[in-house]
Amino acid sequence: METVQRPLPPLGCGLTFCKVNSMTPAAPQQMLAALIRGRELPVLSAAEWLLLLHPALMILFVYPVVGATIRLGILVREKRLDLNPIAATVPGEHVDHGRWVTTGTVVAVVLAVVALRVHDGAVAVTAPVIALMVGALGGCLALWRVRRPAARAAAAFLSWGSVALLVVPPPLVWAGGGPRERMWGNHGSSGVLLTGLLLFAMAAAPEIRASSPWRRLHTGAAVLTALLLAVQAISGSRDLLTLH
Ligand code: HEM
Ligand code: HEM
Repeated sequence: METVQRPLPPLGCGLTFCKVNSMTPAAPQQMLAALIRGRELPVLSAAEWLLLLHPALMILFVYPVVGATIRLGILVREKRLDLNPIAATVPGEHVDHGRWVTTGTVVAVVLAVVALRVHDGAVAVTAPVIALMVGALGGCLALWRVRRPAARAAAAFLSWGSVALLVVPPPLVWAGGGPRERMWGNHGSSGVLLTGLLLFAMAAAPEIRASSPWRRLHTGAAVLTALLLAVQAISGSRDLLTLH
């Protein structure tokens, strides 16, 4: 019987796609069954489920609050310029939302680092790594409480420095490689920069409220922050394609 060559396009991304290279013209059910089989969902291991926690937390919690933070920031500006008679609580709401975005981001980044270590089979979680995680989370949580400028600056640097060392470990950089080989276009490096910008805003909130130069600095940094949030959404989705 004559056969027809029908190579299916490689659709990539780790899902198992079928390889039906020859098929009789009189067997459409056979082809349909092969297609359905080929798109079966992969069975995830525990380490892969752990990898999903970071993107899931970002999508479910951080990005929705980012949307509200940006909207509230624009309302703060409209209120200050007398363009919009809005409630007096809006500036406070903007700062509260910003704190949650920052904290959610730090927590999700720590989760990503743990998940990658477990997935790559690297020295699971060593004492220095635990110390850096405590520094990252502790510094960020301290920012909710401390008031004095020096204490706020110290807490922000502790948190950001720990995040940076967790994501871009110096021995890796000295050995000639950034996180996951490339520095530019790398989701981890831009994530460190973005986390720093968020921690800076959280630490400097009283100054941003009180003085025009700080407010202008925050507005400029906020544009970069919004841009980096878009960059992270794109590069993070790209990385999801390569992880399985
Ligand atoms: C998604 C990122 C953010 C964007 C796009 C953003 C945007 C803005 C904008 C447009 C303003 C008004 C500036 C003006 O009046 O001209 C503002 C004010 C302010 N933002 Fe943000 N912001 C962001 C994140 C944060 C974070 C994380 C914090 C701190 C936790 C923060 C704290 C403040 C403070 C304290 C003010 C001044 C409020 C006042 O005038 O009482 N922002 N922000
Ligand atoms: C505020 C936004 C985000 C920041 C700051 C951020 C930051 C990071 C950092 C620092 C890492 C560790 C990279 C490394 O050690 O090489 C990471 C891993 C990862 N990120 Fe993000 N990310 C963000 C948003 C997203 C989004 C929206 C997605 C997907 C839709 C995503 C997907 C991933 C994936 C798949 C990994 C690999 C590890 C894992 O899955 O846990 N990220 N991210």
